[in-house]
Amino acid sequence: TRISCALIEPDGGKLVDLIVKDSHRDEKRRKALSMPKIRLTQIDLEWVHVLSEGWASPLKGFMRESEFLQTLHFNSLRVDGGGVVNMSVPIVLAIDDLQKGRIGEADEVALVDSRGVTVAVLSNVEIYKHNKEERIARTWGTTAPGLPYVEEAITNAGNWLIGGDLAVIEPIKYNDGLDRFRLSPSELREEFTRRNADAVFAFQLRNPVHNGHALLMTDTRRRLLEMGYKNPVLLLHPLGGYTKADDVPLSWRMQQHEKVLEDGVLDPETTVVSIFPSPMHYAGPTEVQWHAKARINAGANFYIVGRDPAGMSHPVEKRDLYDADHGKKVLSMAPGLERLNILPFRVAAYDKTQSKMAFFDPSRSQDFLFISGTKMRTLAKNRENPPEGFMCPGGWKVLVDYYDSLASD
Ligand code: ADX
Repeated sequence: TRISCALIEPDGGKLVDLIVKDSHRDEKRRKALSMPKIRLTQIDLEWVHVLSEGWASPLKGFMRESEFLQTLHFNSLRVDGGGVVNMSVPIVLAIDDLQKGRIGEADEVALVDSRGVTVAVLSNVEIYKHNKEERIARTWGTTAPGLPYVEEAITNAGNWLIGGDLAVIEPIKYNDGLDRFRLSPSELREEFTRRNADAVFAFQLRNPVHNGHALLMTDTRRRLLEMGYKNPVLLLHPLGGYTKADDVPLSWRMQQHEKVLEDGVLDPETTVVSIFPSPMHYAGPTEVQWHAKARINAGANFYIVGRDPAGMSHPVEKRDLYDADHGKKVLSMAPGLERLNILPFRVAAYDKTQSKMAFFDPSRSQDFLFISGTKMRTLAKNRENPPEGFMCPGGWKVLVDYYDSLASD
């Protein structure tokens, strides 16, 4: 079937934009002066960014209790006029007893960053209990100690959550030289339209691109052309928010991705590289739904998913936390994602007989080498080379340089 050039509609029909118009900023700032203040953590600020640009459309602010419960129990939100949209991770703001006391009966609060600048206002607020155990258990499927996002953002957070309508006075910038890659969903839609894309396929990642990842992307393009699309465009969409300590930092990953395009592993003509501002949960099949849903809002109608998306090792046991196939199975059935074409992929591994990354063939498993993230990091740290054909040399050098920079610290 041929599909017209119009991009997929955002969830809820209209992209949410919570950034206050220039002409209203001063007034909003002035009003905020008299409001109770909540100091945001870096992760809170990343969520403000996510919400402000409509990645979570139709959600218009930090979740109130009804939204929090729908997310925890149904991984989706009811929308006005019927139907549901997917929403699998809670986007919530925690406050402690003291802050709750200071807010009292106030209806509006000012959200300030670490410099004390008021970046946003939350109005029609609702404060409700932050049952951390329930939140963690339902989002991650375990409360085992050592889950990265949990340790960073939940364990020591306050016992209350505050929801409301968000209005952002200062659009979130990072001034790290990468802001030009942080295209909002509406800017991405403009870019895809400018390029005359008749299909947009998204690839979420938080790791350097190896040739196995690239195989998924080039194979998708081939399949889309076979289906009759004339101009499928790839959204290479590295996650830019919080990641765990042993993941490769964003700035190094961006350099690595640049090399992958320079070395011709991916085609710059048909690829848009941009940063997805969300923090990472490492919540496997639950989180991958969020990763996919947000890309609908950015205009993607195809979503690539491979082995163990948003997965990681169990924090205390010697195994992966999630079944490596559950991410793709869940995505294909998820409530509210019916409009998104899911492209599930088998695991890719290094095929020693061809000296390249290929789809794993269980009938000749002895021919394949699995190079895990840990293995890759160890090689780069020890300045050893992976087998030829695993990653383009320019990209590999960036990784070696990164680990060198750590060693010289
Ligand atoms: S994720 O946390 O963003 O999902 P990662 O950056 O490792 O992690 O993976 C990005 C995407 O590539 C995910 O869809 C994941 O399933 C897929 N993927 C990663 N490694 C492989 C592999 N060896 N074979 C197939 N798919 C893979």
